[in-house]
Amino acid sequence: MPRGDLLSRVADADGLYSMLTDRVDEELLTLAPKLVVVSNMAVGYDNIDVAACTARGIPVGHTPNVLTETVADTAFGLLIAAARRFGEGVDHVRDGKWGQWEPNLLWGAEIHGSTLGIVGFGRIGMAVARRAAGFGMKVIFTSRRGAAASGEPEATAVDLEELLTTADHIVIAVPLSDETHHMFGERAFAAMKSSATLVNISRGPTVDTAALVAALRTGQIGAAGLDVVDPEPLPGDHPLLELPNAFVIPHLGSSTARTRIAMANLAADNVAAAFAGRPLPAAVNPAVGPRPPPAAI
Ligand code: DGY
Repeated sequence: MPRGDLLSRVADADGLYSMLTDRVDEELLTLAPKLVVVSNMAVGYDNIDVAACTARGIPVGHTPNVLTETVADTAFGLLIAAARRFGEGVDHVRDGKWGQWEPNLLWGAEIHGSTLGIVGFGRIGMAVARRAAGFGMKVIFTSRRGAAASGEPEATAVDLEELLTTADHIVIAVPLSDETHHMFGERAFAAMKSSATLVNISRGPTVDTAALVAALRTGQIGAAGLDVVDPEPLPGDHPLLELPNAFVIPHLGSSTARTRIAMANLAADNVAAAFAGRPLPAAVNPAVGPRPPPAAI
């Protein structure tokens, strides 16, 4: 919903079922004094000012778990597509350039046996690590909570500097925050291997897009597989799309029928729980107890 429409319609709303593109901020909350719940149909909630909701006693819901494996599948798809140059291969065929089989056509970077660096070792990061084990990859990761616990995928905790310099491929799986905004910029690209592939399945602004374009153009890094970019939507004439080594899809990480329906249902369950005066099944700020349900429900 365009923001103007949203702002003009929230005055009587008891609940808000938001998309990741809706900014739920002070301005909106002030215009929506009756809200007893904000329910985001996404696991990420960087579009929501959670502190402002908490200060007003509004529980915030999101959709963890139901999309973990699907997004991890996407990360691997992007990794292989970008590192192995599938985009260029498709263009080659479509452009009618497919001639004689060539021993040296479109050499890509090896996936199996390489070292995968995962930035952020939460649910999705760990699901990516499980897939990497099947590819015989060595996994290193950064996380605020340190070493992998028992029962978690086999992986070695390192600091960001070590991850950048030693990983053959990197997957960004951290939530967007002030701390992770532009975490991948000039400095990070200068530290990475020139053959490395960068995969982003978190949020576009974790990467400085202008710096990424420069790094891909000059060969400072090998390739990028991007489910998320900054800005979104990415205009069709954006410089990123002119680069053969950028493989970009339009925020499809969780896009299978089963997963998107599960997300939609969990987001609805969060609203229903709040309307029944119960705790949300998936709350971002669980310390905020349920509010009295709206009178009419
Ligand atoms: C999320 O849920 O945060 C994803 O970006 C959309 O699947």
